[in-house]
Amino acid sequence: MKNLRTKLMLFGLCLAVGIGLVAGPGCGGGFPIPDLPDKVVGYCIYKNNFSGSNECKEYVGSWTVKEATDDCKGNGSTIQLDKRCGNAQDKKLGDCIFIINKEKEKYARVEIPGDNKERCGGTKRGCEFFGGGSFVPSTVCGGVVDTGETPSTLPVFRPGQLDCKDPLPGDAKGNGPNGQICTMSAISGASEPGRDFTKYGNCELVRTQRPYYPVPPNSGHDKDDPRMKDPAYLKENDWVKAQVQATACVCCHTTTAPQGPSNWYVESSPNWINSMSDKALAMGAGWISGVGFGAYPPEKNNGFTRPTPTDPNHTIFTTNDDARMRKFFENELKHRGRKKEDFKDEKYAAGPLDTQRFYTPKECADTQTIDADGTIRWIGGSARYIHVLEANASSPGVPPNLDKPEGTIWKVDVDAYTGTPIKSGEIKFGEVPAGAKQDFPAEGKPKALESGKTYYLFVLKDIVNPLTRCLFKAK
Ligand code: HEC
Repeated sequence: MKNLRTKLMLFGLCLAVGIGLVAGPGCGGGFPIPDLPDKVVGYCIYKNNFSGSNECKEYVGSWTVKEATDDCKGNGSTIQLDKRCGNAQDKKLGDCIFIINKEKEKYARVEIPGDNKERCGGTKRGCEFFGGGSFVPSTVCGGVVDTGETPSTLPVFRPGQLDCKDPLPGDAKGNGPNGQICTMSAISGASEPGRDFTKYGNCELVRTQRPYYPVPPNSGHDKDDPRMKDPAYLKENDWVKAQVQATACVCCHTTTAPQGPSNWYVESSPNWINSMSDKALAMGAGWISGVGFGAYPPEKNNGFTRPTPTDPNHTIFTTNDDARMRKFFENELKHRGRKKEDFKDEKYAAGPLDTQRFYTPKECADTQTIDADGTIRWIGGSARYIHVLEANASSPGVPPNLDKPEGTIWKVDVDAYTGTPIKSGEIKFGEVPAGAKQDFPAEGKPKALESGKTYYLFVLKDIVNPLTRCLFKAK
């Protein structure tokens, strides 16, 4: 039995979107929206790790009460059995539909509350990019769907790597072995100062490390700027641009990015800096911290540095002269009449990455644990990263410097290119399955877990995509 009302409602919305815009295959853009079964086990209201706001998740179809109860508990909340979410059309941005198991008719429908139209694009991205769901806009978001360039899921996060290349014709010899130019291909990476990262680094890899999509620049970016006639100003402006050009940041912030630039871009004229928002400048000045994006040590990154937990107010840009970079952005903010106090409520720049770093785990459900024989169990699907930590360790963030916080006991990574994600129950503590590698400890077995002691189980579908993050008692 299908629920005719649900079906018609979804269909009606799809149609409205289809008329208003060039609709992709399936109205949500992720995948065609399935007919949802009638049966709902219950709902769960919890805080979304990406948006920081509350969502209501409905367990639709063949979930058992236990599965749904555990899933809700895994989200840090308590299920309300036999009830539906029921936010009115004008009180929600839309529904994010997840297919859990098509054959078994098991789905999740997440209502994203809100009435601010400006959040529609971001909400759709959150649903489809991070979640792998399909977004069905409500009347609030009707006709405000993105232009359709966004792929339905993020590619697998590829770890950073050092790429050494011969200089291109006409370019000077590099500082690497045999005059090669060695570049750290990673979002926090850099080539040699004065080089062009898009030529020497691997931007395709970089664009797997955070979502890439085109975003219009700051309004007024193309206005005349008399400062461009001042040689002293121009010198600093050119220096900052050359620094950005040498780093992975340029991969999405350039007209040569596959679908055009994400927001600000180095080619914007007459003054590229004007393509940045005030907030972006505050990140440049280090007033809003970019720690969450990760950092390589300068000796592995052509001398370039980034904000780190011990130097959080470093400019968000990857640079080999932090003081000079921050000074430039402070002057830009002054020019726009902005003060440090204006940004005092925005401490961190990395959004979902920061939310994850600061996540405080709660107690595990019964289905999230390590059995007496070492078998590791979690919920939500197959995993690429499995961490076991001391109970008081902070939550892991992105590689290379935030993914093994103090208190890490064991960490296993599935190879991003050749490995198959590991299923719950198919890995034992201390035993590394084929296609995976132990990332911590560097060598040897992890230290044994003590029976009765509490530990932190942290399992990711992929970087920035958590499945299970909770505290369990060792058996
Ligand atoms: C994979 C693509 C990609 C890469 C690489 C990238 N960015 Fe971005 N960046 C974006 C997108 C997309 C936006 C638009 C805002 C959003 O949707 O997150 C953005 C926006 C920004 C903003 C503006 C934020 C605001 O609120 O105005 C700043 C500053 C920024 N990026 C800095 C950086 C720095 C520094 C790096 C390198 C360490 C970098 N970006 C690398 C995609 C990227």
